[in-house]
Amino acid sequence: MILGIESSCDETAAAVVAGGRRTLSSVVASQIGIHAPYGGVVPELASREHLRNIVPVVRAALAQARVSLPELDAVAVTEGPGLAGALLVGVTYAKTLAWALGKPLVAVNHLEGHIHAVLLEHAAQDASAAATTAPALALVVSGGHTHLYVAAPEVTREGSGRWQYQVVGHTVDDAAGEAFDKVAKLLGLPYPGGPWIDGLAPHGDARAVPFRFAEVRRREGRQRASTVSADAPELMFSFSGIKTGVLRYVENHGLGPACAARARALGAIEKPTLTDALALCDAETLGLIASFQRAVVDNLVGRTLAAARRYGARTVLVSGGVAANRELRACFEQQTAREGLTVLFPSLALSTDNAAMIAAAAWPRLQAGLLAPDSLEANPRLRLGVESGC
Ligand code: KG4
Ligand code: ZN
Repeated sequence: MILGIESSCDETAAAVVAGGRRTLSSVVASQIGIHAPYGGVVPELASREHLRNIVPVVRAALAQARVSLPELDAVAVTEGPGLAGALLVGVTYAKTLAWALGKPLVAVNHLEGHIHAVLLEHAAQDASAAATTAPALALVVSGGHTHLYVAAPEVTREGSGRWQYQVVGHTVDDAAGEAFDKVAKLLGLPYPGGPWIDGLAPHGDARAVPFRFAEVRRREGRQRASTVSADAPELMFSFSGIKTGVLRYVENHGLGPACAARARALGAIEKPTLTDALALCDAETLGLIASFQRAVVDNLVGRTLAAARRYGARTVLVSGGVAANRELRACFEQQTAREGLTVLFPSLALSTDNAAMIAAAAWPRLQAGLLAPDSLEANPRLRLGVESGC
């Protein structure tokens, strides 16, 4: 039984997961209400809220699981990537708890956690079973990341091994979730914007505004060691252009005053609902929202399937906050079925940040004896996987 702890951004979360696949509890304290007035996460406020929440959230997770601290086998914590001050709260708490209990501590990469949210729910944690369908192509698409990985478990004699990841694509600028949030803010919708755009898009005409994605070009002479697959621009993402495209549309069509009025009206409602937002959007705005979402979804699905083809993956794993998007799920289901591939998503609750995914990702690491050193520190820029050209 592993106690997972997650505090990389604006959710303080704790969960108890047994055997890497049975979730006994998963508690998430969201800070959305605290950051919403600022239209984005304020790092200092996030750290303060994590400090306030960490003890009650861990207690609630243990109580819901009916597990006492001495019964735990290990403590797992998100090491990075994320906000430095936010990560520090979880890492310090987990280190102290593991030390006081004399239990092993496992450090988990947040992005690996997102991938394991899918594996946790689809019982694919058993490496020997998962290896039969490997390699998988994993798209992690959240507020901070848009990355493509080829993922496969090592198979050991015991049947369980740690997963290995190879980065085969990523965004060169904004993450997809960031684009959802920024476009929503521009249109006067609350933070975080993804769920609002998801809810409003079906009410608009997705053909209204023909957005296009320019190919990501190889940056001659600027290729950092971390820049992957300069040979494969079709596996790279860029979302800053479409964000600017929406801004230009708003300016050129004189929608600015209506967006400001919408922000004021929704800001005056204590808990605005989708019906409130819908009543404040005209057909032109709904068309803009639907067209934006359709373009982002087509881009994400198209590039992910291009990667699956290139690397011979039969299974596609989609995770991270944006994986909650209904049009994205429907489009993936449709297109993978056409190509004879399997697509797996986490449940909605495990799409966004949570600690069950951290405890699940820690399981193969614990079995492989990969424990965190006493010197473990928060690593805001932690990377996942080896990077490769194609
Ligand atoms: O994984 P997550 O909870 O935190 C990060 O690690 O970033 O992802 C949060 C992101 C936000 O940008 C949010 O707007 C987006 O996920 N998101 C969505 C939806 N639900 C959350 N984006 C599109 N459609 C949704 N239904
Ligand atoms: Zn996340």
